[in-house]
Amino acid sequence: MTPSKFFVIDFDSTFTKVEAFDVLADISLEGLPDKEERKKQIHQITLQGMDGSISFRQSLEQRLHLLQAERKHLPPLVSRLKASVSESFKRNREFFTTYKDHVYIISNGFREFIEPVVSEFGIKPENILANEFRFDASGKVIGFDESNPLSVNNGKVEQLKKLNLPGDVYVIGDGYTDYEIKQSGLANRFYAFTENVEREVVVNNADHVTPSLDEFLYLNKLNTVISYPKNRINVLLLENVHPVAIKHLRDEGFKVDSYHAALTEDELCERIRDVSVLGIRSKTQVTARVLQNANRLMTIGAFCIGTNQIDLKEATRRGIAVFNAPFSNTRSVVELALAQMIMLMRNITEKSNKMHAGVWDKSAKNSFEVRGKKLGLIGYGNIGTQLSVLAESLGMRVLYYDCEEKLSLGNAIKCRTMAEVLDQADVVSLHVDGRESNTHLIGQREFDRMKDGVIFINLSRGHVVNIDALRQAILSGKVGGCAVDVFPYEPVSNDEEFHSPLRGLPNTILTPHIGGSTAEAQENIGHFVPGKFMDYINTGSTSNAVNFPNITLPTLENAHRLIHIHENVPGILARINQVLANHGINIVGQYLKTNEQIGYVITDINKEYEKDVVKALRAIEHTIKFRVLY
Ligand code: NAI
Repeated sequence: MTPSKFFVIDFDSTFTKVEAFDVLADISLEGLPDKEERKKQIHQITLQGMDGSISFRQSLEQRLHLLQAERKHLPPLVSRLKASVSESFKRNREFFTTYKDHVYIISNGFREFIEPVVSEFGIKPENILANEFRFDASGKVIGFDESNPLSVNNGKVEQLKKLNLPGDVYVIGDGYTDYEIKQSGLANRFYAFTENVEREVVVNNADHVTPSLDEFLYLNKLNTVISYPKNRINVLLLENVHPVAIKHLRDEGFKVDSYHAALTEDELCERIRDVSVLGIRSKTQVTARVLQNANRLMTIGAFCIGTNQIDLKEATRRGIAVFNAPFSNTRSVVELALAQMIMLMRNITEKSNKMHAGVWDKSAKNSFEVRGKKLGLIGYGNIGTQLSVLAESLGMRVLYYDCEEKLSLGNAIKCRTMAEVLDQADVVSLHVDGRESNTHLIGQREFDRMKDGVIFINLSRGHVVNIDALRQAILSGKVGGCAVDVFPYEPVSNDEEFHSPLRGLPNTILTPHIGGSTAEAQENIGHFVPGKFMDYINTGSTSNAVNFPNITLPTLENAHRLIHIHENVPGILARINQVLANHGINIVGQYLKTNEQIGYVITDINKEYEKDVVKALRAIEHTIKFRVLY
């Protein structure tokens, strides 16, 4: 408890994300033909009141006149304001209850809607300083308490003077009138609150800019519920990741910078220094040299499937968790595979090309339905299984081979060898992963095994197929049609020409690695990867991490969580527990998992402990990274 400190907090756009009068206008003017016009006028008058061209009292009178508010509008207003409390205020309820005698709400708004919102946070009615409505007998708002200092210019200053608080006064707000309290000498510090709006003049006059309440509490060592303010965590998103990702991370309170392109190694080495969370797609190369410069980096998210653009070994050695989006674009690939099968079975590319050349070649020759045909899947993972289900619903018979034991979905038939699939399938579709040993998994021998006129599809990885063998198989008629989306060498940018022995071949659909490239997939990835970042930062969970032992952790309740990443050498867990025992600490829960390179130990402990235990844990030999969460 800090008895000599008082916290004076603004309401509109600070305690809540919105301006209450804007919301009230939406409710009270509902159905009026001139609603929008009136709202515009109200906004205009607010600005005039702020810039001094009319007095505050005049602005209040004029706005109330336009609003036509009534008592019955208050309950819906209050419920909307309750739903609009600023995120960082919601997170830090404990602060308000702990300091309830020292928190004041000061506002030029009205008690009738402020009190029901802030009292839920334990703020006392006598600590709410605001205007009050006057109603007539029918419940119409006809004015306000004119004796209230807050109904005239400089009201907040006058009100604070009257209060005469016996200690240090800290003002938090987003408006100039909040700064005026400090300017008049009545407050020790003014914090410009920018979580909802940022006004240049206010920010320029502030002692400190606080993008959330977390930052204010952290600066003043008042934080009780979070270990580190998110606004101090820098996130860098490159290569134009979907805007929804930026929104998720900003809503969570992180400081997010985004850039539309990839950075070169040199640029990234410079930029990465103060970055804690890095988001990339496939073009940014995160090399060992980049990681050497990444002193604060906790996690990297690949907003795509592949992670070979990241030096995973080095990232692991440095205790940096890497995530990707392994199934966000599964459906997109599956849809394309289905479409291609149908197009190829009907020889559509040939027919379309002829039409463009002016040739009308109407015939049913070499055109088939996919219904009843055998689809042979090589690789029965995320994509293979989903394709299996949808292909069956089109009436296809599905055979599959996977090198691992995989549960067969629907009526799909599991084959024990790849050859078994190749022997029978009318359509062969590859969905294996890109491991090195899959290089040339399909070559001349495999094509020879396939049925004559087989339809062949590769949407997996380019090196999996011997392209020269595929060319021969197409030219010989063994392969009746094929679709290829991935190539052993792919141009690095759209400016580079695409060279391939497959160019110009008949009934051959070539696409530039766009199997997973749809708006929906990008959006899914934009939801998925930030979710992984947040789980990792907020709870330590590493589920689906590419390079870390995967642990899914329960949310932390009433405990502190010690997260220890270390080189995988024997005896570290014992040493951690020895340190905890030496400090008489009670372990509430403990989780350990290792991989070849590192060990990941999570220990939940009671909230009360001597802080030097943290130092001792950090000092354990072979520690890579250590952090405390609460
Ligand atoms: P996944 O990892 O879920 O499935 C791959 C499956 O292949 C696993 O079940 C694995 O056991 C199996 N497998 C690996 N090698 C095999 C072999 N030699 N023989 C038989 N089975 C083998 O991967 P997911 O998500 O289904 O993706 C499949 C492929 O599609 C990957 O190569 C991925 O990179 C690629 N992909 C391509 C996209 C595009 O834009 N064209 C987009 C998304 C994925």
